Amino acid sequence: MCGIIGIASNKPVSINIINSLKKLEYRGYDSAGLATLINNKIDEKKCSGRVEELEKILFKNPSDGNLGIGHVRWATHGVPNVLNAHPHSSEIVSVVHNGIIENSDELKQKLEIKGAKFKSQTDTEVITLLITEALKTDNPLESVFKTLKQLRGSFALGIIFKNNKDIIIGARRGSPLAVGYSQDENYLGSDSYALKSMTNKISYLDDGDLCVLTKDSVEFYDEDKKKINKKIYNLSDDKNTSDKGDYKNFMSKEIFEQPTTAKNCINEYIDTLKKDINIYNFPIQPKEINKIVLIGCGTAYHSCLVAKYWFEELTTIDVEIDIASEFRYRKLRFNYRNLYIFVSQSGETADTAAALDLCKKNKVKTCSIVNAVESTIARNSDWVLPIHAGPEIGVASTKAFLGQMIVLYILCLKLAKSRDDINNASYHELLDRFKSLPESIKKTLKIESSIQSMAKEFIDAKGSMFLGRGYSYPIALEGALKLKELSYLHAEGYPAGEMKHGPLALIEEGLPVIVIAPKDKYFEKTLSNMQEVIARGGKILFITDHKKELINENIRFGVRVPFVDTLLSPILFTIPIQLLAYHVALLKNCDIDKPRNLAKSVTVE
Ligand code: AGP
Repeated sequence: MCGIIGIASNKPVSINIINSLKKLEYRGYDSAGLATLINNKIDEKKCSGRVEELEKILFKNPSDGNLGIGHVRWATHGVPNVLNAHPHSSEIVSVVHNGIIENSDELKQKLEIKGAKFKSQTDTEVITLLITEALKTDNPLESVFKTLKQLRGSFALGIIFKNNKDIIIGARRGSPLAVGYSQDENYLGSDSYALKSMTNKISYLDDGDLCVLTKDSVEFYDEDKKKINKKIYNLSDDKNTSDKGDYKNFMSKEIFEQPTTAKNCINEYIDTLKKDINIYNFPIQPKEINKIVLIGCGTAYHSCLVAKYWFEELTTIDVEIDIASEFRYRKLRFNYRNLYIFVSQSGETADTAAALDLCKKNKVKTCSIVNAVESTIARNSDWVLPIHAGPEIGVASTKAFLGQMIVLYILCLKLAKSRDDINNASYHELLDRFKSLPESIKKTLKIESSIQSMAKEFIDAKGSMFLGRGYSYPIALEGALKLKELSYLHAEGYPAGEMKHGPLALIEEGLPVIVIAPKDKYFEKTLSNMQEVIARGGKILFITDHKKELINENIRFGVRVPFVDTLLSPILFTIPIQLLAYHVALLKNCDIDKPRNLAKSVTVE
């Protein structure tokens, strides 16, 4: 992960570096640092913790160079402290890095034999020292090329040089890197989001590319040192949505934005006049599709799991789902009649991007369902279905998950209709039920105060379990992930019917067990599984849309969400589990938008 920024300008850059680093904090927030060139010297400032700390350091001791690089870190090699914070500088060169150098130990040994001294525990410092060594005989560009040849692993780099005070060199292998253009100023950044407040003109480096920036020019090279041209994209303007307004944090804002997320998504894809779905240009003719393979990580993977149930229910297409980090290393038999769908909020997740690359190498058709339409995954896939959720800043994915599910459901309906798996009447009826979804989400959000009370049941808990069957099973997994991620409380998500095969051993007096039980074909079965938990002392917290009396001596707490439709239940039942994780984390005083050890965009393996 980690975020990098570089600015070459005709005026001091440190304030803009700090502002960009604040935007990049979603990529890592263990430590921060910057280096600028002042009076023919590299001026490095670093801190452990957040960018705010770095800002305080700069306030006391400004750094007013016109060219500089900055970094926010998500630790891989070495604990998060000042020594390991980036940039890593020698007398003559300073480097910021996102990624992992897999052969750093080997390179370090070779450098130490030559007398090099390391100050940090990071893999990045080998890059600094290799370039320093190469600069003894070569110019900056040649030194960087020479160094890159020796590196294994993934990286995006920003490099400045004491003796070449006008240039920043950027390089990419595996980890994303963008270049931004402006009047008398050019930029390097981990993504376009960090550069948006300064420019809307962006180019993206491809794997193996290198760029040389000055305040007036940008040159690109491929890995064979050949000069290349890059397309310049105009970014869309969505600055207004990346502000938390009156909300305490981004997560609560994003949870409460979900009626709008649903509305935007539905408006983009459903033509109410024609009573049809605006999805065309399938990379494979719908009737020719043999299998759909859905791939994602974390929460995005959970949306794939929900979609599997939809595709199986409404179409005759076989569905396979996989976690991207597993998919990319499996011995797969690719089929050109399979459609490979990649789901990702950021569109930059390293494992998902690598799984997509693998499909491309095997020449099969790919589709991405992404929130960030300017992302690597979107740019690299044959077909893109955006989720239109707007920027999601909170590390815990909420509105993007809801958007992913809605797009997947709409895609499923369109495929079902195009293949004649459902008839016209059912198609129109299912489309019709969709219309009320934003309103139902809004009503569901009103249960917040009940969820707030439910959250108190977790204060002294040692752990918890989330149970569901059918569509509610992925929601149970998502509930457990959200709770772990936000409140650091151990949580397990299970298909309720699986409890007796092992996890029931975890149930002890007072353990909170969240039972997700919509009024569907599994309802009675879920109740029976719940009885097995009650018999062993579990404290039941029950979420349903059934009219059944909620509270009895066995159910400690009950919450009712509005009933819409069994098929849409996973979308509505997502709201209570998000609110629950949020309120438990709030009670435990956790950092809601930036949970410990995590980052929003996971750009390392
Ligand atoms: C969700 O709350 C998590 N932070 C995480 O699991 C996330 O969904 C995962 O890293 C995938 O990210 P992506 O959607 O950007 O690919």
